[in-house]
Amino acid sequence: MATTPGLVDSYGRIARRLRLSITDRCMFRCVYCMPEQVVWMDRRHVLSFEELVRLSRIAVSLGVERIRVTGGEPLVRRDVPELLRALGGIPNLRDLSLTTNGVKLPEMAVALREAGLRRINISLDTLRRDRFVEIVRRDAFEDVLAGIRAAEAAGFEEIKLNCVVMRGINDDELVDFARFARDTGHQVRFIEFMPLDGDSIWDRSKVFTCEEILARVNAVFPTLPPRNEGTADPAREYAFADGRGAIGIIASVTRAFCQWCDRVRITADGKLRNCLFAVTETDLKTPLRAGASDDDIAALFRAGVYGKWAGHLINSPLYQKPERTMHAIGG
Ligand code: 5AD
Ligand code: SF4
Repeated sequence: MATTPGLVDSYGRIARRLRLSITDRCMFRCVYCMPEQVVWMDRRHVLSFEELVRLSRIAVSLGVERIRVTGGEPLVRRDVPELLRALGGIPNLRDLSLTTNGVKLPEMAVALREAGLRRINISLDTLRRDRFVEIVRRDAFEDVLAGIRAAEAAGFEEIKLNCVVMRGINDDELVDFARFARDTGHQVRFIEFMPLDGDSIWDRSKVFTCEEILARVNAVFPTLPPRNEGTADPAREYAFADGRGAIGIIASVTRAFCQWCDRVRITADGKLRNCLFAVTETDLKTPLRAGASDDDIAALFRAGVYGKWAGHLINSPLYQKPERTMHAIGG
């Protein structure tokens, strides 16, 4: 199979990172992600491990270097360590990571680490128990904290915490989070609230901006200028001036980084999405199940990536919310 010229779009960007959503299911109902009442994907449409690995292998043959496994909540699927082991065995894959809500980590962290997973992102939007219930709509604060501790004990090389910042909901905790990052050594990544939620509660006024986040944090713990400006990393990383750790800020709304984007996504039902906010998808599952060759699938990958738009339209009146909400896209 051809390995060049890779997955390039019509603007010359090259896709090197794959977000692989392995389920849309989740035991939480985070307000920024899902509606309270969800209709799950029909299980028959959800890709098997074999199918996920095959698509990933083809993606890597086309130049993808890094894979992040996401959901929904990926750990609701049985035998995820097995999947990770298979993905980790793909030649030329440089990096494998996983995003989780953390609730299953007390029982699974060791198995995940033993499967070769080295990096993990855990969602944590508040450090207050009562508030956790309001944001996540499930009473599991202690479990997530236990999950973080389990990940620490299992010896992950890197643990990052994802915190979606919403004005009037958790923006008063930024300094607490910065302190948490400094005390634990885990990078906290503040994420601007994006219009991908399930209950359509998003509006611009609820976006607590990158600039505001920085101002809050800097007032107490000064940070240095970002160390990875102009790279494909979604999070700009700001190290604390005194050298004790760092925060990251994902400013998808106010400082869109589409021009540097190197990501492509596969949903749990086998659709290629060339953007988080894409309104069209390329169906890989149907050809996959109809016996398509690797080359056929590779051609679909190429075409799907080639058609990527210049950037999302959140800041334009033309913005159209994707039909899928975050849990069915994969974070
Ligand atoms: N805005 C910003 N981030 C979101 N996430 C989910 N929904 C949103 C949204 N509407 C992020 C969460 C979670 C990851 C899977 O995706 O931080 O950790
Ligand atoms: Fe579940 Fe993650 Fe969505 Fe929260 S953000 S409801 S933990 S999939």
